[in-house]
Amino acid sequence: MKLILLGAPGAGKGTQADILKVKLNIPTISTGNILRAAVKNGTPTGLKAKEYMDAGKLVPDEVIIGIINERLQEADCANGYILDGVPRTIAQAEAMEQAGISFDAVVAIEIPDEKIVARMGGRRVCENCGASYHIVNIPPKKDGVCDVCGGKLVQRKDDNPETVRDRLAVYHKETEPLKGFYEARGILKTVEDQSTVAGTTQAILEALGR
Ligand code: AP5
Ligand code: ZN
Repeated sequence: MKLILLGAPGAGKGTQADILKVKLNIPTISTGNILRAAVKNGTPTGLKAKEYMDAGKLVPDEVIIGIINERLQEADCANGYILDGVPRTIAQAEAMEQAGISFDAVVAIEIPDEKIVARMGGRRVCENCGASYHIVNIPPKKDGVCDVCGGKLVQRKDDNPETVRDRLAVYHKETEPLKGFYEARGILKTVEDQSTVAGTTQAILEALGR
């Protein structure tokens, strides 16, 4: 299955993608995680992306299109994939279409902005493997330590309330129009956030007829 997870920052795309990749046995491709790794490693892409990410702005389309075209060539994508956080602009979606990249379904996770601002303050991510937690909703077994790899859990730089508001504004302006784009292609599925991770997973699987 070739799937896009669409949703506001903090909607739970990364959390759901990590669960769905196991259930559906296909890889997840998160441009946010790829870019954060590039920033951490100081690669040319990372150097270009850092200032946009820290400010809560979108990284230029050509950088993203390059990342995606390269990643989808890899062998593990042959049987399908889940795109988390991409495409994020109509231009990115059009570029994928022109490159012959097709999708079976686009799942849009719907959640009110106020709920997101409250949620982001509690997010912690592993600085080593990128695994995501929430201090109240999804706590790690040991405070401040990643369950997966033992890495240190930190707050993301772009999770302060002011940047979260900027990211939400960018989402509504640049990314939300993608719903209409994929609705017109007959593949949009809309799912309400269920407040629990398992509840939202269930709703997504139902929407996909699984
Ligand atoms: P990216 O990493 O993609 O960030 P985002 O879209 O802003 O999304 P988040 O990762 O913040 O949220 P999420 O929806 O994955 O939520 P999560 O599962 O963590 O992008 C970062 C930056 O990179 C962008 O701002 C941009 O600069 C750049 N970028 C990336 N892709 C790009 C592109 N295509 N084009 C241009 N620029 C790009 O959940 C959030 C929190 O809530 C967690 O703590 C989680 O534990 C908790 N939670 C999740 N689900 C639930 C639930 N159901 N109940 C309770 N808590 C929950
Ligand atoms: Zn980790």
